[in-house]
Amino acid sequence: MLTAEMSEDQIFAELLNRHGSHTPAVELKIKAPTVKEILRLKQERNAVILGHNYMEPVVYDVADYQGDSLELSRRAAQTTADMIVFCGVKFMAETAKVLNPDKTVLVPSQKAGCSLAAGITAQDVRDLREQFPDVPVVTYINTYADVKAESDVCCTSGNATKVVEWTMSQFGTEKVIFLPDEYLAGNVARETGRRIIYPTKRMSPNPQPGLDYQMIGWHARCEVHEKFTVHDIHRVREEYAKTGEEVLIFAHPECSPEVIAESDYSASTSIMIAEVKKHPHAAILLLTECSMGDNIIASNPDANIIRMCSIRCPHMNTITVENTRDALLNVQYQVDVPEDIRIRAALAVQRMIAIG
Ligand code: 13P
Ligand code: SF4
Repeated sequence: MLTAEMSEDQIFAELLNRHGSHTPAVELKIKAPTVKEILRLKQERNAVILGHNYMEPVVYDVADYQGDSLELSRRAAQTTADMIVFCGVKFMAETAKVLNPDKTVLVPSQKAGCSLAAGITAQDVRDLREQFPDVPVVTYINTYADVKAESDVCCTSGNATKVVEWTMSQFGTEKVIFLPDEYLAGNVARETGRRIIYPTKRMSPNPQPGLDYQMIGWHARCEVHEKFTVHDIHRVREEYAKTGEEVLIFAHPECSPEVIAESDYSASTSIMIAEVKKHPHAAILLLTECSMGDNIIASNPDANIIRMCSIRCPHMNTITVENTRDALLNVQYQVDVPEDIRIRAALAVQRMIAIG
């Protein structure tokens, strides 16, 4: 564990111990002084660093709390620090601000977007509500605050099915609008045996009479997870079939329903990490952002993780130790949410946290 009391040499030794088997020592040595500065500034500013599981290993190490979107939202809701530095993407930092209007919330890079969050607007949600009156709206946490503000409840990949069940029973409806991830919605529909439609703006005024459906989805996708294919899985399974070694396929639910159907396990990033630990003798293909594999190996050096590093999240990857240090030093980049939007978004996020 890294602490502000450690010298640069001690920090380097700790980084080498964790990452030396897969990262050149010189790279870690160069990062050690920046890590030292981060630890000092964090204390000085009474800041907490929240690090998503996709952070590059050294950024992940400096975080006070690491986790998936649900865990980090819970941490953000509970913190007593004056400042939150969110090492993740902008919608995550915004969620922290929604829950903590009086705290300074920072995201270290202005380029940390997300293709899902960019894939839907607040007006799209209002239009859908008009098209499907009285149908409650569940919104994935990978959206901006103005979209959350138009929603009844949020969910993450860690609780999407539970939130859909809760919403239907709480609102007493047979239907739910689930936005914006086409594939996550498709996977929830598949898991719960519900039929899903994806309306277009031209579908007027409503889907054909008599059409049987319980979920209404949208067309946004994660630009990383949409690229994994069933072919990727077959190739890996074929290679392992030659050696007789056990191989398991773990896929994030933002992958297509076809990929999930061919996988052995699908869950949020943190639940996948916990599951990896239960299979110490198997090789595991992780169909998710590559850095998570590095972070798993850092704490489980014997884990046999197969990664698809040709596909990276261009947004998560903009967070570095250098810009995390600069965030603390210059108090940048502050995330703000207009109060009328914040109040409505907070209701949807707090419902999600209460559902668990
Ligand atoms: P998790 O909530 O599972 O960590 O996922 C967040 C994300 O952005 C996945 O691409
Ligand atoms: Fe968004 Fe996909 Fe990147 Fe996650 S991996 S932040 S869903 S673009």
